[in-house]
Amino acid sequence: MSVREVLKMGDPLLYQRSVEVTEFDGKDLAKVLEDMFDTMEALDGVGLAAPQIGIPLRIVIFSVGQNPRYPDAESVPRTILINPIIEPQSVDLETGWEGCLSVPGMRGLVERHSSIIYSGYDETQRPIKREATGFHSRVVQHEVDHLDGIVYPMRIKDIRNFGYESVLFDRDSDPQ
Ligand code: NI
Repeated sequence: MSVREVLKMGDPLLYQRSVEVTEFDGKDLAKVLEDMFDTMEALDGVGLAAPQIGIPLRIVIFSVGQNPRYPDAESVPRTILINPIIEPQSVDLETGWEGCLSVPGMRGLVERHSSIIYSGYDETQRPIKREATGFHSRVVQHEVDHLDGIVYPMRIKDIRNFGYESVLFDRDSDPQ
C-alpha cells in the first residue's frame, strides 16, 4: 500500500503533456497502478491521472460507487484506461460541477460533451471501447484532460462559478 502525494494546482508537472505507455509487461506499470488506486481510494477520489502523482504517462483510473465526495453521482465501473482516446458523440455540452484532488476543497462549473465514445487499453493491453454519458462521460473527460496538462479550472467559463465547496454548497442547493 502506498498512498502517494497528489500534486496540487500550480505544480508545473500538471501542465505537461504525458506520454504514451509502451511497456505493458513488467512491474513498473503494475506498481504505478497500485499506487494510483491506493491514492485515489485513500482520498475518496472518483478518478486519478498518473501525472497527478508525478508520473507523466497516459494512464487514468476511475471508479464511482458510493462516494462521500459525490453522494448523488451515478455509478461508473472501476476502470484502468491506458493511452485513452475520446470521440465526442454530441455537439451539445452539459454543464456540471467538478472537483479534483489537485484542487482540494474547491468546485467549479465546467462544460463537457454529454456523450462520448472512449477507447484505450487495460493493464493487460486488452482494448477497451465504451460509450459514456452523464457523470461517467464527465469523469473520463476530466481525467484525460490531465494527460494533456489541463486542470478543470482552466475550462471554467465564468470564474464566479469557481469556489470553495463549503461556501458554494451552503449558499445554493443547486450544486450536486
Ligand atoms: Ni482531476
